Amino acid sequence: MVKNIGIIGYGSMGKMLLDKFIESKTIQESNIFISNRTFEKIINLNKTYSKLNICKNNIDVVKNAKILFICVKPLEIKNVLTEIVEYLGSNVHIISLNGSVLFNQIEKICINHKISKIIPSIIAEVNQSVTLVCHNANVNIKDKEAINNLLKCFGTIMEIPEPEMGMGSELTSCMPGFIGAIFKVITEEAVKHTSISKEKIIDMVIATMYGTGKLLLEKEMTYDTLINRVATKRGITEEGTKIIENKLPEIIEEMFIKTLEKRRITTEKANNEFNI
Ligand SMILES: NC(=O)c1ccc[n+]([C@@H]2O[C@H](COP(=O)([O-])OP(=O)(O)OC[C@H]3O[C@@H](n4cnc5c(N)ncnc54)[C@H](OP(=O)(O)O)[C@@H]3O)[C@@H](O)[C@H]2O)c1
Repeated sequence: MVKNIGIIGYGSMGKMLLDKFIESKTIQESNIFISNRTFEKIINLNKTYSKLNICKNNIDVVKNAKILFICVKPLEIKNVLTEIVEYLGSNVHIISLNGSVLFNQIEKICINHKISKIIPSIIAEVNQSVTLVCHNANVNIKDKEAINNLLKCFGTIMEIPEPEMGMGSELTSCMPGFIGAIFKVITEEAVKHTSISKEKIIDMVIATMYGTGKLLLEKEMTYDTLINRVATKRGITEEGTKIIENKLPEIIEEMFIKTLEKRRITTEKANNEFNI
């Protein structure tokens, strides 16, 4: 039987979930209930999804949903949970989209509930997300299957332990941003050495990035095989790969130190919010 789905928060992630569930026909519009702090942002959604249940407040969503996606920023999660908890049925499955807010924080308010955390990435928009999931002890195999059946419409699903959600998020949901930043630098540096237009450089780099990913996946090629196939001994590519191998580790190490520290601080702030 199809369960009603609730989505609280219509930002980047809430919109992605709504669009994907409907576009893939995973859930019918009439089985989805949605709310957002700024109601004006969702008021016209019926023009696109005529049967969608647009709710004036979070409580109306909660009263109807069996699976509830909380798609708000980490420091807003506590407020939402506090507001809705008395209307939550005991069997409602709460899904938080944030990796930094911990189960023991959510459980302080939603005692004995089924709680999962999911981390999709922006590439869900093209059905390529590697969505990370983890569950608290109240989530059983059937619940996990139900969640996987929903999430598979926008990519693959990987279950990992809660303490690894931080690094896992860096490698999946943050990674498109990191990749974009790296290739932006490559493009800007390339422009300095050629008369090829920036637009053409961007086309070349994106198509090559896409093809390289496909090659690695479809041929099950390792990074080393790839590098050895392209960077032949004493060749031109090898000059470039040597620089990358010498200089990039320091930058990447600094990046992970900074992002993981920022994550730790967010968890600490949430801890303070939840008074743990
Ligand atoms: N963006 C990503 O790539 C990504 C990937 C994985 C996980 N996440 C996680 O997903 C969560 C949502 O991120 P996002 O990027 O979608 O954020 P976002 O674009 O800022 O959207 C958050 C939405 O929540 C709404 N909201 C805030 N407080 C609310 C409340 N009390 N009741 C109802 N709605 C409320 C906001 O409404 P207003 O219109 O009033 O601002 C806004 O539309 C975050 O925890 C984030 O860490 C994000």
